Amino acid sequence: MNTADQLDELLESRLRQTRRPVEPFTAVIFGASGDLTSRKLIPALYHLALEKQLPNPYRIIGFARREKSDDGWRQELREALGHFSRTQPVNENVWNEFAKNLVYCQADISDSAGYTKLKAILESFPDPRLQTNLLYYLATQPSQFGEVAAHLSAASLLHKENDTYADRLVIEKPFGHDLASARELNADLVRHCHERQIFRIDHYLGKETVQNILMFRFSNGIFERLWNRDAIDHVQITISEKLGVGSRAGYYEEAGAMRDMVQNHLLQVLSLVAMEPPVSLEPENIRDEKVKLLKSIRPMSPAQVLENVVRGQYFAGEVDGEARPAYRSEPKVKPNSHVETFTAMRLFIDNWRWHGVPFYLRTGKNLPLSASEVRIQFKPAPNILFAARQDANLDPNSLTLRLQPNEGIILRFNGKIPGTATELRPVRMRFSYDSEFGAYTPEAYERLLLEAIAGDATLFIRRDEVETAWSIVDAIRNAWAGKALSNREFYAAGTWGPTAAEDLMARDGREWRNPQPQKE
Ligand code: BG6
Repeated sequence: MNTADQLDELLESRLRQTRRPVEPFTAVIFGASGDLTSRKLIPALYHLALEKQLPNPYRIIGFARREKSDDGWRQELREALGHFSRTQPVNENVWNEFAKNLVYCQADISDSAGYTKLKAILESFPDPRLQTNLLYYLATQPSQFGEVAAHLSAASLLHKENDTYADRLVIEKPFGHDLASARELNADLVRHCHERQIFRIDHYLGKETVQNILMFRFSNGIFERLWNRDAIDHVQITISEKLGVGSRAGYYEEAGAMRDMVQNHLLQVLSLVAMEPPVSLEPENIRDEKVKLLKSIRPMSPAQVLENVVRGQYFAGEVDGEARPAYRSEPKVKPNSHVETFTAMRLFIDNWRWHGVPFYLRTGKNLPLSASEVRIQFKPAPNILFAARQDANLDPNSLTLRLQPNEGIILRFNGKIPGTATELRPVRMRFSYDSEFGAYTPEAYERLLLEAIAGDATLFIRRDEVETAWSIVDAIRNAWAGKALSNREFYAAGTWGPTAAEDLMARDGREWRNPQPQKE
C-alpha cells in the first residue's frame, strides 16, 4: 500500500462512525438474584426487546446460588418488571417472547463446578454465535470480580488470546476504594483478559443528556468559539440529590461523597465538558482525550486541598416538608462520623484552553432538589454604558446544560425591559428535550447494555481513567484524613449545603447558582 492509500485509509477510519452491528449474543449475569438485576438490568433488556433492538437469536443466563427453575426465575422477573419497568403496563407479548430467552444457572460463584455447568448450558445452544459472543455482567460484590474472571478463564470461557475480543466483562463501580486497590483490581482482571474486554460502567455516561455534551460542543460553531479562557469566567457543575443515604448508610460510611460521586460521575461530566476535541469518534480517541483532561487537573498539596475543597455533613432538617434525621442518627452511622455527605471544590485545569478558569464542582445528599447541571458562566461585557443607570454589575451571560430533570439547555442574557426606561434584566432562551423530541427518556442501562453487547467501549471507563480519577480523589481524602469537620461544614437537610461551600465561592467574588425546580 502506498503512502497516499495509507492516508486515505487512516482518514476513512477516522470518519467511520457507523454503529457496530449487534450480533447474536449470550449475556451471563453473575449475581442474578440481586437488586441490580431485577431493578435495572432486566427492565433495560426488556425495553431493548420492546424496541426491537436485540438481535435474533440471543440468550440471557442468570447465574446465582439460590435454587430455582428457569420458570421460577422468569416469574420473579416478570413481577419485578411490574414495579421497575419505565413503561407500564408491561407488553405481555413482548415479555413472553423475551422470557423464552431467559435461562437460570444455579451455581456458586466460588465453585468451579458452576462454570462447568455454565459451559454445558452454552454448548446446548443451537447457534454457535450464542456460544462465542459472550457478555459477562458481574453484578456481584467487587471483591468477587477477580475470582469470577479467574474461574471463567480456567473453564475456557474467557479468552485472553482471542483478538476478536468476543467475550467481555462488564463491571460496576466501585472500582477499588483508592488508587492502590483499583490498580490491584485492574491487574487482577488483566491476568485473565485484555483491557479491551473490560467494560466499566458509569451510569452517568448512559444518560442521554450527558452524551449530548460532546455532540453539543463539537457540532455548534457559535459555542465552540467561546469554549475557552477568553470567553468563560468559570464553570459550575452541580449534582444535587434530595435523598439522604437511607438504607445504604453502611456502604456510605466507607465511601462518602468523594468516593461515591466525585471519583466517577462528577469527574466524568467534567472531562466531557472540558476535554479537547478527539481526532475521531472512535472509542479510544474519545477516551484518550478524557484521560488527558483528567491528567491536566492541577494537583493540590494538602494545604491547597484544605483551601480548595470543602466537606459537608447534614444534620436534621426537612426536605419537601418531610423531616430528615441527621446523618449521624441514620442507622449504621457512627454517632461521631466525619464522613462527608456533601463536597464542593475549586479545580483548575492546567492546559492552554482553561488557563485561569476555575471549575467549581459540588454534590450532596439531602439538598432541596435532585438535579444535575453544568453552568458555563461567561465573562461580563464591559459595563460602560449601563453602570450609571443600573447596578454596577451586569448579570453575566450563562449557558446551562441541564442533565436531569427537565433536560435541556438554557442561554441566559440581558434584555431590555419594555417601556421608556433603559432598564435591563436577565432573560432566557430555552431548549427542552421534552418539547422538542417528546418525553422519551431511555434508562441509562438500556444504552449502556446495548453498547456493551455491540462491543463499543466509548461510554465505558478505561483503566487509566479510573486510576487517574483515583489519584485526584486520594490526594483530597489524604489531606482530610483524621481531620474533624468544622462547624461551617455542617448543613441542615433541605438546604444547599454548608456555609463553607458559600465561603469557597465568596472568596473569589462569585456565588453558586442553584438549579431551579421548574423550567428556570
Ligand atoms: C450512584 C451513587 O452511583 O449514583 C448514588 O452511588 C447516587 O449515591 C446515584 O444516588 C445518583 O445517580 P442518579 O442517576 O440518580 O443521578
